[in-house]
Amino acid sequence: MTDMRRFIEHMPKAELHVHVEGTLEPELKFDLARRNAVELPYESVEEMRAAYDFDDLPSFLKAYYEGMSVLVTEQDFYDLTTAYLARAHSQTVLYAEIFFDPQAHASRGVAYDTVIRGIRRAQEEAEERLGIRTQLIMCFLRDMSADSAMATLERSLPYRDWIVGVGLDSDEKGNPPVKFRDVFARARAEGYRLTMHCDVDQENSVRHIWQTVRDIGVDRIDHGVNALEDEALCREIVERGLALTVCPVSNRCITGSLKALEVRRMLEIGMRATVNSDDPAYFQGYILENLVATQEEADLSRDQVVRLAANAFEASWLQADEKRAFSDRLAGYAASGAGP
Ligand code: HPA
Ligand code: ZN
Repeated sequence: MTDMRRFIEHMPKAELHVHVEGTLEPELKFDLARRNAVELPYESVEEMRAAYDFDDLPSFLKAYYEGMSVLVTEQDFYDLTTAYLARAHSQTVLYAEIFFDPQAHASRGVAYDTVIRGIRRAQEEAEERLGIRTQLIMCFLRDMSADSAMATLERSLPYRDWIVGVGLDSDEKGNPPVKFRDVFARARAEGYRLTMHCDVDQENSVRHIWQTVRDIGVDRIDHGVNALEDEALCREIVERGLALTVCPVSNRCITGSLKALEVRRMLEIGMRATVNSDDPAYFQGYILENLVATQEEADLSRDQVVRLAANAFEASWLQADEKRAFSDRLAGYAASGAGP
């Protein structure tokens, strides 16, 4: 193992872009399929992994939604979340903001309460047992209607204290941010923080990023790499201090490129880039593998690697005191002389 890899592994980290349903490893998928008597179109873990051969967002989403068929009971959501948190903890993730997709479960007849209660129990237990701190972000599916998103927002209100913010994911084509203007305005009024996916190399990527900034007024942007194509947009993002949650291994699976040089460019022009795993079970890379691949490909310095981690703690939706405590731990690690 290189000094740099060891340094990244033990570096205190925050993850801001991970879909809990995207952490469903093939082994657990098989176990849950057996437990719930769900038929899978694969004979083995190897066959399932081999089928994870994506070339665009829709081909990934097809596997992602198909995989969810095994998630039925509260215990399933608990097991899923517990497995991710153990894995994240093993890579020195101290804090994670985790997406979940309630509409993808409701449409299969799995109740909102079942989903969130299972996830929540895992969060509480992991915090107590492992010390890993987490918050939840509820995502709306952009290829469903704005009315469905609004109904989901209303469904979430009894759990207001368990959810820190809302996001927007699924297929971007033909589903611009402004489609959800009223939903996000209402979410803001309810006290939620706001983020939205602006997936990489989509039709109208740059226009959609402008919309998230100007029309929606997001607090953060998920992906957003194509902002680099527009200087005025970069300036606006820097001025507003908006962080971007880049997911390099996901980018490689979906676009053929890690976009690691783009991450370096963001750092160089003062954009608050962070590195995250997105759907680690499908793309086969957790946050450590994402950071290592990005560092190697873009030849990032030790300081730049620390900056990526610092950006994540600073851009998190924690209260100021907790944010400061995590940032101080990272600064202490960086100053300790560990690593290259
Ligand atoms: N983009 C869009 N939808 C998603 C993603 C993503 O990165 N991950 C899970 N659903
Ligand atoms: Zn995502």
